[in-house]
Amino acid sequence: MDHTLKWGIPSKRPYLKLFQLLVLAGLFYFCSGVIQVTKTVKEAAMLSCDYNISTEELKRVRIYWQKDNEMVLAVMSGKVKVWPRYENRTITDVTSNLCIVILALRLSDNGTYTCVIQKPEKGSYKLKHRTSVKLMVRADFPVPSITDLGNPSPNNRRIICSTSGGFPKPHLSWLENGEELNSTNTTLSQDPETELYTISSELDFNMTSNHSFVCLVKYGGLTVSQTFNWQKSAKPAPSANQLLLWAIIIPVSACGISVIIAVTLTCLSCRHAARWRERTRNKESMEMERISPST
Ligand SMILES: *[C@@H]1O[C@H](CO)[C@@H](O)[C@H](O)[C@H]1NC(C)=O
Ligand SMILES: *[C@@H]1O[C@H](CO)[C@@H](O)[C@H](O)[C@H]1NC(C)=O
Ligand SMILES: *[C@@H]1O[C@H](CO)[C@@H](O)[C@H](O)[C@H]1NC(C)=O
Ligand SMILES: *[C@@H]1O[C@H](CO)[C@@H](O)[C@H](O)[C@H]1NC(C)=O
Ligand SMILES: *[C@@H]1O[C@H](CO)[C@@H](O)[C@H](O)[C@H]1NC(C)=O
Ligand SMILES: *[C@@H]1O[C@H](CO)[C@@H](O)[C@H](O)[C@H]1NC(C)=O
Repeated sequence: MDHTLKWGIPSKRPYLKLFQLLVLAGLFYFCSGVIQVTKTVKEAAMLSCDYNISTEELKRVRIYWQKDNEMVLAVMSGKVKVWPRYENRTITDVTSNLCIVILALRLSDNGTYTCVIQKPEKGSYKLKHRTSVKLMVRADFPVPSITDLGNPSPNNRRIICSTSGGFPKPHLSWLENGEELNSTNTTLSQDPETELYTISSELDFNMTSNHSFVCLVKYGGLTVSQTFNWQKSAKPAPSANQLLLWAIIIPVSACGISVIIAVTLTCLSCRHAARWRERTRNKESMEMERISPST
């Protein structure tokens, strides 16, 4: 009875299971490289094994999660073991697709994670399921900054666009009206310790016309950009300023000149008056002197 039951069900099930496996295998092969999880540094990522097992089965199966060739987590005899690099930041949910959740993501967590399910069969463990998930950990670049570097030649202006602290490897381009421009001195560097990138690029343009440049930085499916507007310093603009300047300079200088003239005139007349007064005083004193000895 027990025997027939055991045989009865599996006779139907292997078919179903085989079908399921084929579907999964098909999915895996079709989607290999497509099952991708993209997250930013410090976020959490959930990687699904895409396979469910019952709680009683959990005691017998072996579940391995590994990244490239290193171990991440294993469930054996219902016990969970987490390897040191993932310790205290990796949890597993055996009730839902045997997924793992990695918290506080680091750039070094980038890679392909594989989940392997083994079941005991005839005294040994046989591979029952295998799924790979590609985890891409990004670090967001801040909005680039554009700095004016002055004039390398009389009619030309040089600007530089730069941004740093992002991941993965960025690509920078300069655009004007949707068209890519030639840039100069594009530099890309990577911090060996943090793995974060820095990118910068220079652009020379003709100052004699108006421009609106976009510095576009693309990385891992994301973009950040900054716009730089240049308004041709056309004649009307400075002449308007000059007019204003003259409108101030003329009255001010006119006032200044009249003040100076007035002061000079006053001084001259004062000095003249003083000299005249002095002369008269001298004359008077001389007369007094002339008078006094006689007295
Ligand atoms: C596993 O179970 C979860 C819910 O518990 C369900 O959403 C999911 O589709 C199942 N996965 C598979 C591969 O059957
Ligand atoms: C994980 O946490 C435990 C207890 O807080 C601590 O003893 C252990 O060193 C931690 N492991 C890592 C790799 O940080
Ligand atoms: C960009 O550079 C290429 C090759 O150096 C040149 O053929 C092209 O004319 C340049 N384009 C502009 C807009 O300067
Ligand atoms: C590139 O940068 C170097 C140093 O920053 C500078 O000397 C050189 O003139 C630049 N070249 C161009 C084509 O802008
Ligand atoms: C800048 O543009 C003006 C007019 O469009 C042109 O005469 C001049 O040759 C250009 N200068 C450079 C350096 O391209
Ligand atoms: C350049 O921009 C200024 C200010 O927006 C505008 O007045 C001027 O007409 C523009 N010049 C050209 C040639 O488009």
